[in-house]
Amino acid sequence: MTVISLARGVPTPDLLPIPAIREASARALNAQAATVLAYGPGGGYPPLREALAARHGVDPQRILVVNGSLQGVAFIAEHLRRAGQAHVALEAPTYDRALKNFADRDFRITSVPLEADGIDVEALAEAETPDLLYTIPTFHNPAGCTLSPPKRRRLAELARERDLLIFEDDPYRLLRFEGDQVPALHDLAPERVVWSTSFTKTVAPGLRVGYLIVPEPLVDGLTALAVDTYISPSFLPEAIVTDLLGSGVFEASVELARKALAERLGVMCDALDEHLPEARYVRPQGGYFLWLQLPEGTEAGAVHAAAERHGVAFVPGTEFFLDGGERHLRLAFSGVQQEQIGEAVRRLSAAVTDAGG
Ligand SMILES: Cc1ncc(COP(=O)(O)O)c(C=O)c1O
Repeated sequence: MTVISLARGVPTPDLLPIPAIREASARALNAQAATVLAYGPGGGYPPLREALAARHGVDPQRILVVNGSLQGVAFIAEHLRRAGQAHVALEAPTYDRALKNFADRDFRITSVPLEADGIDVEALAEAETPDLLYTIPTFHNPAGCTLSPPKRRRLAELARERDLLIFEDDPYRLLRFEGDQVPALHDLAPERVVWSTSFTKTVAPGLRVGYLIVPEPLVDGLTALAVDTYISPSFLPEAIVTDLLGSGVFEASVELARKALAERLGVMCDALDEHLPEARYVRPQGGYFLWLQLPEGTEAGAVHAAAERHGVAFVPGTEFFLDGGERHLRLAFSGVQQEQIGEAVRRLSAAVTDAGG
């Protein structure tokens, strides 16, 4: 039996703009070989920084293009740790690889509960002010939820009042299926927010291109870390992304992904409602993930073991917490074709039954 994987937050290959990437790559090598095959500024390929700066209306010096946005998380964690500012607040649950970046550097971690409308801002306000809040406010990984506009305003206010630095990890923002766009925390308190995004979820993960918009005082420190880590990032993929942004392929790629993901989510919700009606979820308005709460008395670990026998994969909720998540599963609807989702949920339902749910 072939395993159907709802585990990985990746796009299916049919969503990648492969011919456009091939052509952009050839163009970059024909016209810019000497530049894209050389070392260069640690902050990234200058034409890409300029294009992104123009899109966001910021100074290009504040754009730090990195080899995948996870690198940006590593840089901020390393920068703060070296400065002796190693207390971070994380949502519970949060992105497992970010959690690992802070935990591996011995950060003191304050876990702040996540609600259906995003982080519990009042719980954060009542806690000791950390050196950094790492948050995924829009189409959360793993929880799928989005921080409401009133909570965004309150959080921006809190950041100003308490001099709190926020890392806003925002790779899914453009993949909205329904509802109105919400302001980024970066729009509300630009001087307090490092904003991060990526072309992984909208173009292709293997290009490894992400970028940060960095508040002025952090630019030199983070750029120095980039130079110490890799001298300069990989320019050929950055030149490809520059080309895709200039030719409109980027917008078309976002639109293709958005439509396919919305359809896949619809099929997944219908299948869950039919085959696992006792499980609970908050329907995400965009992104890659659905966060499923199992019926009382059913453990994600037991379902995970049973799911292997039934040929379906997912990530158990415990991966996304320091402590907790035993009744949750993260289901990624990004990496499977629509036609596979019904069968995946039937197999999941059989695994839940086996696990005693
Ligand atoms: C919230 C979040 N941040 C960062 C990343 C890493 O993305 P990249 O491929 O740009 O390193 C992911 C990927 O799953 C993610 O979900």
